[in-house]
Amino acid sequence: MRSLKTKREFFASKPGFVLAAAGSAVGLGNMWRFSYQASEGGGAAFVCLYLLMTILIGLPIMVSELLIGRTTRRSPIDAYQSLGGRVWSVMGLIAVLTPIVILSYFSVITGWVIRYGLDAFSGFSANPGQHFAAVSEGWSAAGFHFIAMGVTVAIVIFGVRRGIERASIILMPLLLTLLIAFAVWTATLDGAMEGYRFYLSPSLAELANPTVIRQAAAQAFLSLSVGMGVMITYGSYIDKEHDLIAEGAVITMLDFSVAFIGGLVVFPLIFALGLSATVGESTVGALFISLPAAFQELGAVGQVTGFLFFAALLLAGLTSAISLLEVAVSSLVDRFRMKRVTAVSIAASAATVFGLIPALDQEMLGLMDKIASEFLVVAGALASLVLARRVLSDSGDALRQGEGRSSSHITPVALVLIRYVAPAVVGIILVLALADLFL
Ligand code: PHE
Repeated sequence: MRSLKTKREFFASKPGFVLAAAGSAVGLGNMWRFSYQASEGGGAAFVCLYLLMTILIGLPIMVSELLIGRTTRRSPIDAYQSLGGRVWSVMGLIAVLTPIVILSYFSVITGWVIRYGLDAFSGFSANPGQHFAAVSEGWSAAGFHFIAMGVTVAIVIFGVRRGIERASIILMPLLLTLLIAFAVWTATLDGAMEGYRFYLSPSLAELANPTVIRQAAAQAFLSLSVGMGVMITYGSYIDKEHDLIAEGAVITMLDFSVAFIGGLVVFPLIFALGLSATVGESTVGALFISLPAAFQELGAVGQVTGFLFFAALLLAGLTSAISLLEVAVSSLVDRFRMKRVTAVSIAASAATVFGLIPALDQEMLGLMDKIASEFLVVAGALASLVLARRVLSDSGDALRQGEGRSSSHITPVALVLIRYVAPAVVGIILVLALADLFL
């Protein structure tokens, strides 16, 4: 129980909690995944659906999970079991395995980020498509995956969360500043308009496309770090003083902003530099092909900004990776009374070995990402919503604890979303996903 106590001290302050949760939410998903998903999903249509899913469904799920964590004060397996009984601990187990699966391929992508950060020193390749193909798959990709896992483990094992937190305070704004600066620069490029048009003007047909709707929901959930125990775990480290709706809204807004501005950079670049064909060849590589192409064009300035950009992206990736590992670790510690070091070793070894699959085979990376985000995360989100109903009495008292004046008006709406709208929508999405798989 000792380590549990140490963890609970972690979120002594509200900004500390918001920052850690936002650190988990803002990650590679916002930049790497968002850009390739949006380009696949028809650009603007995807973005509109993603925004809608984020606010109406994602935020209520986040609030539900924080509430489950805060009320039970347990990590996922035990939290699920204490609310739902034995059968539910199986769902809890999924909530522990999902982050390990996600960590395994996120770590491979974090490896690419490290690789590209180092590339900045020698200058970015003049042929970004070919370069990406060469470095993103195979044993060198596996090597960088090991490095990324090593860094994650080093942080989680030594528990230097405060270090990461402080670094986030500096590097997250840096990431945002750089992104905005890039967005301004890309606006000046010839051909940028075409990118905006693709990114910002929705085609009505796509808006009603069930696959796009489903993928937008999956992206929203993954990006908010819901549906896999992170927010339950983090919620178990906060007290009743926290205004879950207001704080959840801040985390959500930060997460959405980073993704949205990222799109304002990536799409004009892709169109201005005539990269749409190359990007189309490797959807998962969109970000890693378009941005280095821009850095290369900028010469020495590009090398410096490119380095800073990938450094900031690395940090964003690490704060997510840490939270993914933390879910598995906290559950192993709570459930099996393991020592923290043992739990970290087991969880990290699993993710490291598993990560060899996406490192050596990029198609598998895409597949794992699809399975995790379109099925596991959605199922996890549904489980959280069902269990949140058990926490909420008719009056929704548990949610009202800690609410501020402005959120007190929103609570009734939030309760309707949590109890009825979100479970229905998430249930439909899950059914659609399964139908897509089997039919
Ligand atoms: N939300 C993170 C991102 O957008 C990914 C993540 C998912 C992190 C689940 C933690 C848990 O990159």
